[in-house]
Amino acid sequence: MKLLHVDSSILGAYSVTRVLTAAIVEQEKKLHPGLEIVTRDLIEDTLYHLAPRHLAVLQGGTTTNENLIADLALGAAVLDEVIAADIIVIGAPMYNFGIPSQLKAWIDRIVVAGKTFRYTDTGTVESLLPKGKKVIIASSTGGAYGPQSPAALLEHQVSYLKGTLAFIGLTDVTVIGAEGIALGPEAREAALKAALAEVAKLAA
Ligand SMILES: Cc1cc2nc3c(=O)[nH]c(=O)nc-3n(C[C@H](O)[C@H](O)[C@H](O)COP(=O)(O)O)c2cc1C
Repeated sequence: MKLLHVDSSILGAYSVTRVLTAAIVEQEKKLHPGLEIVTRDLIEDTLYHLAPRHLAVLQGGTTTNENLIADLALGAAVLDEVIAADIIVIGAPMYNFGIPSQLKAWIDRIVVAGKTFRYTDTGTVESLLPKGKKVIIASSTGGAYGPQSPAALLEHQVSYLKGTLAFIGLTDVTVIGAEGIALGPEAREAALKAALAEVAKLAA
């Protein structure tokens, strides 16, 4: 069994989502002895934004640009990692009301027509991913974005990720969230503690 561990926080040792994803991975290891872990740090291995030069190669062209060749190889690797994983753990901070651009760049390499989804003759969308994958999203936000919050309309992070993952057939999604991280040290500690308690409750 394989677990893919994806991190996208730029905050290093101060990151909340990195604490949560590490705890989730430890919990999953306990639940699934022998679990194989693949780690993908999107800040260490940042993908380029997709550009015309990518599309030219993906449509059959050639390039001698070493940076582009390496980036295309990284893009192919992250796609293969998603296809191979049984469990996908995604660290997803909220930055400016959405996900980090590095995580969006990853999404652009895994939501690919003909690879992870296709449009059918009747106009519906069909997932091309192997079935049965589980996703666990570790979310962290500075403020609060619940349905009653005046800022609810600005929540484009977990809703975006859940909708996008569902589009490629990843519908078994659990969200572990730490909300209100920027509301002071006590609020940060309480949110982290509550989220870690949720991690401890994860079942196989
Ligand atoms: C560049 C940046 C942008 C942020 N934008 C938002 C935001 O739009 N809304 C919010 O509630 N918090 C925002 N925050 C706070 C983060 O969501 C919060 O610090 C969270 O813990 C980030 O996850 P991380 O600690 O794993 O990086 C932002 C933080 C950074 C560094």
